[in-house]
Amino acid sequence: MPDTLIIVAYLFAGVLFIKSLGGLAHQKTARRGNMFGIVGMALALVITFLIDKEFAYTYAGGAIVIGGAIGAVLAARVAMTSMPELVAILHSFVGLAAVLVGFASFLGPQAEMTAVEHTIHEIEIYAAVAIGAITFTGSIIAYAKLAGKIGGSPLLLPGRHGINVLMVVGLVVGGVYFVKTGEADLGLQLLIANTVVSGVLGLHLVAAIGGADMPVVVSLLNSYSGWAAAAAGFMLSNDLLIVTGALVGSSGAILSYVMCRGMNRSIWNVVFGGFGTGDSPAPAKTVTDQGEAVAASPAEVAEMLCCAQRVVIIPGYGMAVARAQHAVSELTRKLRERDVEVLFGIHPVAGRMPGHMNVLLAEADIPYDTVLEMDDVNPLLEDTDVALVIGANDIVNPDALVDDASPIFGMPQLEVWHSGTVVVFKRSLSPGYAGVANPLFFRENTKMCFGDAHDSVTDVLAGV
Ligand code: TAP
Repeated sequence: MPDTLIIVAYLFAGVLFIKSLGGLAHQKTARRGNMFGIVGMALALVITFLIDKEFAYTYAGGAIVIGGAIGAVLAARVAMTSMPELVAILHSFVGLAAVLVGFASFLGPQAEMTAVEHTIHEIEIYAAVAIGAITFTGSIIAYAKLAGKIGGSPLLLPGRHGINVLMVVGLVVGGVYFVKTGEADLGLQLLIANTVVSGVLGLHLVAAIGGADMPVVVSLLNSYSGWAAAAAGFMLSNDLLIVTGALVGSSGAILSYVMCRGMNRSIWNVVFGGFGTGDSPAPAKTVTDQGEAVAASPAEVAEMLCCAQRVVIIPGYGMAVARAQHAVSELTRKLRERDVEVLFGIHPVAGRMPGHMNVLLAEADIPYDTVLEMDDVNPLLEDTDVALVIGANDIVNPDALVDDASPIFGMPQLEVWHSGTVVVFKRSLSPGYAGVANPLFFRENTKMCFGDAHDSVTDVLAGV
């Protein structure tokens, strides 16, 4: 196949990937964005296969059939609520692949190179193996924490930052020797040492992060996996892999930053594993500190809604668990028929993965223009008659803004308490993901509608 055709096809696939990311930035265009990504990847695979047909029909074809089948079964079976675990384990595969490509590149036949090219090639191998190993073990720990296979509390070893610095220094020194040595045996030993130390570093970095920060870690590992793929692209001299890896790496880094802001976590804290984390967090307030909560029946809630002019719905993780989005959609339709304005307020970290609520609302055909981001909806809450909090907790906690002893102090909130009445749909007064009590439930203008969110919303719907 002519080289120019390969370059043009790869370039076209790269453009499709960029258009895919652009599409995924908005709900309206997300489906189209996905389509661009699928076409781009199909094109990339076809071209890669045409470059080396024999390899394609033997090894690569078999790997794709087996891997594709496993992936399809896993994706079909995974519950929406377990998606972060699946993403974490998939990142570990990218990391492992980068390590294996690194070793294959080192041990395999070397192309003709100048001395400078050879040095660059060795640096690429060493860096790809290091990033890959960090991503591999870090992702496995993230998976184990998210899936509850190991405890979610941070492993805070004494002098942990010193340990990390020592490992990084060791990796750099080993890298210098690796590039300088002309001996294949010593090179291989240094590469194995690099894999082990980087693996321990990834493990230690992620183990030092508490369960509450795991979503940011997964997003950050996503970014690392992109850089690992880009490094593999350099080793293989594959332009498309470099472009794709860089896209994943940079978009993952931006997403991590946005999530850190949403959870009020320092990005450095996540990058360096528990940097700045207090070793003994302040004890959270308990429910008994807070007073009495007032319950409201679905019929009472229905009456309130019918008299309202503007209702803002704040969905949270509980809506996903209860699969209440279709009932919520039906409720909004009924209310709009009665000329009630219904809007949705989405917190950047509502649910358990980025965009979790947006996906559920889109699935239930909720019009996109009624779904607002936190910063857009907060100023509207003062003029809102009823705020319906459906299975949300940590994202509507007033303590996060005022109580500096709260573990979630500083996390921006959907300030529902400014609206006329707040109705919270949940099964009990139990805390949410962060494990902190929520004084919202005990405020004068708050009513608790206890029960499974799907059942309660269906009952409210009947009342409306
Ligand atoms: P949470 O604070 O976890 O609160 C969810 C609430 O839903 C719980 O308090 C629970 O109370 C209720 N619930 C569970 N099942 C229910 C059901 N069937 N019916 C009704 N209610 C039900 O969720 P949130 O407000 O969405 O906040 C998200 C939290 O997760 C934040 O702390 C965030 O940092 C963290 N996090 C976010 C992500 C991303 S990227 N979005 C990923 C991981 C973690 P009951 O048990 O009393 O019903």
